[in-house]
Amino acid sequence: MRLWVGGRCGSYFHCLGYLPDMSSAAEYLPEKLSLKALEEASQGCRGCDLYKDATQTVFGEGPKGARLMLVGEQPGDKEDQEGEPFVGPAGRLLDRALEEAGIDRREAYVTNAVKHFKWKPRGNRRLHQTPRAGEIEACKPWLQAEVQAVRPAAVLAMGATAARSLFGPKVKVTKDRGRPLDSPLAPLAAVTIHPSAILRLREHDEREAEFAGFVADLEAVGSALRNAAR
Ligand code: URA
Ligand code: SF4
Repeated sequence: MRLWVGGRCGSYFHCLGYLPDMSSAAEYLPEKLSLKALEEASQGCRGCDLYKDATQTVFGEGPKGARLMLVGEQPGDKEDQEGEPFVGPAGRLLDRALEEAGIDRREAYVTNAVKHFKWKPRGNRRLHQTPRAGEIEACKPWLQAEVQAVRPAAVLAMGATAARSLFGPKVKVTKDRGRPLDSPLAPLAAVTIHPSAILRLREHDEREAEFAGFVADLEAVGSALRNAAR
């Protein structure tokens, strides 16, 4: 946390750049940790610098009793404008994969590890930038609060950013995908690739193969959920 004294940063070492920026979303959490209160409070979050260049906070979406929580990286260009997670190209791919896996998106809670869009200008486009570890850490209180409010039976991290936020830096998508992880967050926990990683592939066959792998990971979570409900 920064100590502001009389309009100046009170931490001498921090201002000299010797201390990491320890700001976080924690101080913006509401007292009542309902999804509605969380979403409202998240709109005013200044827990890291990412709010500065973004249009709005993009909070998670879905029923509070959702059994499945899907976690992405951060909102993209379209999500930043619309204020909803996964409504752009990655969202369309996710919708298609969920449908193939027999999972109803309306029954899942869909969110991101980082709630503001990080980008840099490229011509007149806004180019996605991967959030830094410090930004993932700063935003973690929102994700943790969402997990507490929803209490899903299964949580699936899509991509490295979500995997890091939910399970720490040791869990890696390539090494750990497709197998159940031990986590205090939910009885079922797993990682898979991020839908945008599929969209970035240039080769048609490679893209199809990765898409099939993504659907298989979703199917595995879906059937584990069905077995757990028995
Ligand atoms: N990519 C993400 O990780 N999240 C979104 O909401 C959109 C794209
Ligand atoms: Fe707050 Fe997260 Fe946005 Fe940073 S990215 S300002 S921690 S909501």
